Amino acid sequence: MIPISKIKARAILDSRGEWTIEALVTLSDGSTFPASVPQGKSIGSYEAHNVSAARARRAIERIISPRLKGENPCNQKAIDGILISLDGTPQKSRLGANAILAVSIAVARAGAAYLDIPLWKHLRTIGRFRTPHAPPRLYINVINGGLHAGNSIRFQEYLVIPRAKTIVRSIEIGCAVYRALGDYVEKQKGASARNIGDEGGYAPNFTDDLEPFRAIRAAARAAGFSQKIDLGLDAAASNIEASEKSLHAVYRKMIGKYGLWYLEDPFGENEWEAFAALAKDQRVKTRIAGDDLTVTNIKRMMEAKLKNSINAVIIKPNQIGTVTEAIRAVRFAKKAGWLVVASHRSGETNDDFIADFAYGAGADGIKLGAPARGERTAKYNRLLEIERFEKK
Ligand code: PGA
Ligand code: ZN
Repeated sequence: MIPISKIKARAILDSRGEWTIEALVTLSDGSTFPASVPQGKSIGSYEAHNVSAARARRAIERIISPRLKGENPCNQKAIDGILISLDGTPQKSRLGANAILAVSIAVARAGAAYLDIPLWKHLRTIGRFRTPHAPPRLYINVINGGLHAGNSIRFQEYLVIPRAKTIVRSIEIGCAVYRALGDYVEKQKGASARNIGDEGGYAPNFTDDLEPFRAIRAAARAAGFSQKIDLGLDAAASNIEASEKSLHAVYRKMIGKYGLWYLEDPFGENEWEAFAALAKDQRVKTRIAGDDLTVTNIKRMMEAKLKNSINAVIIKPNQIGTVTEAIRAVRFAKKAGWLVVASHRSGETNDDFIADFAYGAGADGIKLGAPARGERTAKYNRLLEIERFEKK
């Protein structure tokens, strides 16, 4: 065992030019392992709390570092347990979920390096996850709206989900449709329609809620991949003012006309029954996912299960604050029989942890935004690296 000797931290920028935190875990042999954490914009009220980057830095260097000195970095569960009790609050508001998660991820990297295995394999072992039949599918956010773009679209993310057996093939299909969509919107709406939102998707003005799907279908046809994609939507409905009835009617139309395959946060974060009514609607075969509803928190996930609100779930490590708790959330979701989709945040850094996490946990899907902007492509490229060089 090579113990932790110190942990330093520094403020770095995220993809929106806002300060976030990077932790640097140093072991007693002098090797150092970094990790930085993303930040959301459409943040659920029940997520773990972040503190300012300056406060996170002080928490890491003054409180966490002295306490973890001498600990074994391979012992992820014990270290995360220490972090949770050091903080002692239900939403990690004392030290900050951002401070805690940055350390937790850097420790996972150190542990994997000591064991001389890839990070995804280390996570698979920690979570006792079985080898899945297929790699995660890509949920590619090609059109941005809501809080992620200054356009007329009220829903946050229109997703293209390639059907393919490998990451590389999924990326080929997704990128071809994404590029064709750029050409299509430019032709329809002018050159400025190519401008992109926070997650790299195009962000033109559309006339109604369904027009983005018409555009995606046209682009998929042009790219020759009509039969190779499913369509998804993250409504992020906590940010939308509309009645349950009117939203339900819109989703029904999307399902009828475009075979909507995946639907995330169709209603507000407390509307358990509205979710359940949609999930129960026999005409709806769509996967109904919780994000702001469940916030990677097992208590919220239990309630969703009890109320039959969802059959799919988003897992974001920074909604809960430690690697171990995020792993537990995946295990809970799998046991519940839900579709599991690991996700980045809209304010990202170049840290590619989420790719290893999704792959290691055997998630059914991963949401990384569009294949544009360095902080998004870093994760796609990490998935490619895992598939090409580290598999088996
Ligand atoms: P956020 O959005 O990262 O801005 O919270 C992502 C999502 O709602 O899935
Ligand atoms: Zn979401």
